[in-house]
Order: sequence, then structure tokens, then C-alpha cells
Amino acid sequence: MRCRKCQLCLLALLTLLGLKVYIEWTSESWLNKAEPRGTLLSSTTPNAEPTLPINLSARLGQTGPLPFAYWNQQQRNLGVLPSTDCRTWGTVAASEILDFFLYPQDLQRFLLSAACRNFPLWQPAGGGSPVASCSEKDAPYLLLAVKSEPGHFAARQAVRETWGSAAAGTRLLFLLGSPLGIGGPDLRSLVTWESQHYGDLLLWDFLDVPYNQTLKDLLLLTWLGHHCPNVNFILQVQDDAFVHIPALMEHLQTLPPTWARSLYLGEVFTQAKPLRKPGEPFYVPKTFFEGDYPAYASGGGYVISGRLAPWLLQAAARVVPFPFDDVYTGFCFRALGLVPRAHPGFFTAWPEDLTKDPCTMRGLLLVHPVSPQDTIRLWKHLWGPELQC
Ligand SMILES: *[C@@H]1O[C@H](CO)[C@@H](O)[C@H](O)[C@H]1NC(C)=O
Ligand SMILES: *[C@@H]1O[C@H](CO)[C@@H](O)[C@H](O)[C@H]1NC(C)=O
Repeated sequence: MRCRKCQLCLLALLTLLGLKVYIEWTSESWLNKAEPRGTLLSSTTPNAEPTLPINLSARLGQTGPLPFAYWNQQQRNLGVLPSTDCRTWGTVAASEILDFFLYPQDLQRFLLSAACRNFPLWQPAGGGSPVASCSEKDAPYLLLAVKSEPGHFAARQAVRETWGSAAAGTRLLFLLGSPLGIGGPDLRSLVTWESQHYGDLLLWDFLDVPYNQTLKDLLLLTWLGHHCPNVNFILQVQDDAFVHIPALMEHLQTLPPTWARSLYLGEVFTQAKPLRKPGEPFYVPKTFFEGDYPAYASGGGYVISGRLAPWLLQAAARVVPFPFDDVYTGFCFRALGLVPRAHPGFFTAWPEDLTKDPCTMRGLLLVHPVSPQDTIRLWKHLWGPELQC
């Protein structure tokens, strides 16, 4: 009888011990996964401090024989992009690119206005409540800057209800173009209501189309300079991403200081080349750009250091416009002499069936794309007690 009790007692103790070991092991392997892919003591330690040489040719790899493509030619001669009379830059491009009329329509439109980058905030009729500035003492540690489009109400609401909901040290902002598109429904009244209700929409008065996404990056950086200069990190992310905020925050807090100061972190593409099939997405004509893309963090979601904002704006004034926002950011970082850091927890081309399984999400930092419905479901299950992995 007594012995039986002893056995039970021992069994219980052993179970507890096993559980402890298991918990420690899982949290440790989770931590290991969150380690940066690169090594800290790499022999080719890249610069930690941004610099911007007078002549960017060497930085941007324009050292060999100069290709005939327009971007390459322009970059070699460009001082600073014109800030006034920006339309002239596009008109000149259109006249100097011999096969400009064969370019896809949206690329043509992009080039015609690509040097125009100053757009006012969009004001709802009758005035709106502007987005509040950061106060000096509670600048966010991590700004969640979500690129959205006026019509993506469901995606925004899913983010607000889940990973974008106020976690300590974060602040959520959505970046949008004008709610008055071309040929679409008039979303002004809906967006006005949303803006007044949530106060988290930064809207600018430009056409919200894929080739205008770089404007959101640049206008945000300008806005931050005036309204939130002390933010530590900025997460640039799409509205259909799912972000594991606690894991991301923990990763950022444990970064070596030299990394943290000049951070450009995400899923990094190092040897991407322009796609050359006319008619397909991301097509780039040979007469526009020759060469490889710079190493860049995929636009699905990446993190940069807030203190780089003014540097990036300076770089952008000196880098010839490029139609894809994430590649363009890669060019700007390269111009500054900074390299992207790859992290294996960023999955920006996530197979949709995997989203159905919250277990695969554990240990990841950012996944894209995820539908609003899956975002809600993942959020509910990720930390639910019923989740057995
Ligand atoms: C930059 O340097 C390259 C040679 O490396 C030169 O051909 C080019 O003219 C220079 N550009 C400017 C704007 O000075
Ligand atoms: C970007 O927005 C500006 C301002 O609304 C517009 O003139 C331009 O055509 C847009 N770009 C594209 C590629 O549609």
C-alpha cells in the first residue's frame, strides 16, 4: 500500500521533471530558430554607419562598361532628383527611351511621374482628426507601418484585432494613397469614417497603385521626421502579413548594438535579376535597366532602424527611380553602404496551405500572405491552450 503511494509520488515527480525539461527544450529550440542566419563575427564586417559618397557609381556597382539602359545611364550622371518641376524628368525619360511607347502602361505612367514625391496628406472633406504625433517620452520602440490600400477594409480590421493590437512599445499606422481611385468606387466617406474612428490612417493624395508604393515609404519617412523622430525601429509590412510581435520584439531587443543601429532585416534576396518576359508581373525592359538587383529585403515585411530615416531620404534623392518599392529600398541601402540582414523567421512567399496550421507558425516572426480570416484564426490558436504541436 505505502509502496504504491511511493510509486505514484515518484511517477508524478518524474512527469513534472519531464515536463520541465520539455518546456525548456522547446523554448530553447524556439530561441535558436530566432537566431540571425549570418554570423556575428563575420570577417567581412560591413559598415555599421551609413555614409553617402558624392558619386554613387561605385556603391551601386556601376563601375564596368556602362550599359546602354536608361536607369544605368541616368544613375551615372544623376546628382539630385529635381524636387520641383518633377514632371519634366519624366517627360525627358519618355523622349529619351527609344522604345518607351512599347513599355507596359503602368511602367510608362510610373516613369512620367517618378520624380514627383512630394504629396500632401489627403484631407477628408469637412476636416478629419489627423494622426497624432508621438510624444517625446513615448515614442514607439517598434512602429508597425502597414502598407494598405483604401479598399482593404477587412485586412486592416484583421490587423487591428490581432497582431497590430496595442502591444507595449508598438504603434500601428496604415499607409494609404487617395481613396479616390480612377474608375473605382468612391471610398472617401468610408475611409473618412475609418480615419476618424481609429486615427491610424496616414493618407496621401496620390493614386494608390502598385507602382506608387515607394511613395508610401518616402512619405512615411518624411512624416516621421516631423512627428515621430525618435522611433527605434520601423516594421514596413503589407496588410496581408501576419507578424509574431512578441518574438520580433524579443529578437530586436537582443540584437548586437552595431546591427541595431543600421538595421535592414527580413527575408533577403541576394541574387535576384529583373524578369524579362513582357506581359508578366515585374517585367523590366532591357532598355530600362541592366544588371542584377541589389540585395534587398522582400517587401512582404522587413524592419529598419528608425534613425536611418533621414539617411534613406537623402539616398532616395540620389538614386534613380525604380518601379518596385522593395528593390528601390535595396538600392537606397546599398547607396548608404549598408547590407540587409537575413532572418530565417521571415517567410514572405508563404504557401497558403501552411497558414492553416498554427504549429508551423510557432517560432516564426513574419508570414505573408495571410488572408484576414486566417489572420483571425491564427491569432486565436497560436497561444491557445488547446494547441498541441
Ligand atoms: C561618377 O563616377 C563615374 C566613374 O566611376 C563617372 O563616369 C561619372 O561621371 C561620375 N558621376 C558624377 C555625377 O560625377
Ligand atoms: C502615382 O500617383 C500620381 C499622383 O496621383 C499619379 O500622377 C501617377 O500617375 C501615379 N503613378 C502610376 C504608376 O499610376
